Amino acid sequence: MNTALFVLGAYLIGSISFAVVVSKLFRLDDPRSYGSKNPGATNVLRTGNKKAAILTLLGDGAKGFVAVFLAKVFGPDLGLNETGIALVAIAVFLGHLYPVFFRFIGGKGVATALGILLAIDWRLGLATLATWLIVAYAFRYSSLSALVAAVFAPFFYVLMFEIDAIALSIAIMSILLLFRHQKNIANLLAGKETRIGSKKK
Ligand code: G3P
Repeated sequence: MNTALFVLGAYLIGSISFAVVVSKLFRLDDPRSYGSKNPGATNVLRTGNKKAAILTLLGDGAKGFVAVFLAKVFGPDLGLNETGIALVAIAVFLGHLYPVFFRFIGGKGVATALGILLAIDWRLGLATLATWLIVAYAFRYSSLSALVAAVFAPFFYVLMFEIDAIALSIAIMSILLLFRHQKNIANLLAGKETRIGSKKK
């Protein structure tokens, strides 16, 4: 019962789309109407408003972090085992991808995944963030950086810990993240992907 409540709560937290909320606060266009049409920090940055993009990144990251952190801290006393924590991680991620508050049209999960990984283990989160930063510095594509980081994240976890329910949840999130980047992959292959810092069209 408690596991179901934690999972439901995580999904609802994940369903808060900070790209849409922050854009409204800053009186910017709806991120679902320009650029990649993705409600995410990268697309908000295409307005040129760095503050709004950073707030989106922090908000989407924080919701992943908070959901898993609360599950880790309070869960064990309330009957939540490791599989339950893994389910909470997937639930908050799915909330971001398919938000109940936004007709199930959500983002691609990069910032939320980072928050989740940091809550699972800060070294895992930092290793994945470092991967993102290295690829971003080298190629200046947000999507490519996310794709490479997503491929590495499950391996980082298994190298640091073991193959368990959390490892499986990270692998599932990585697969979902790759799936949500289909258009970006096609654009990258066609040489049409926009680089970090390009303005919206
Ligand atoms: O954060 C999502 C990023 O990897 C790609 O975003 O807007 O270029 O599709 P976007």
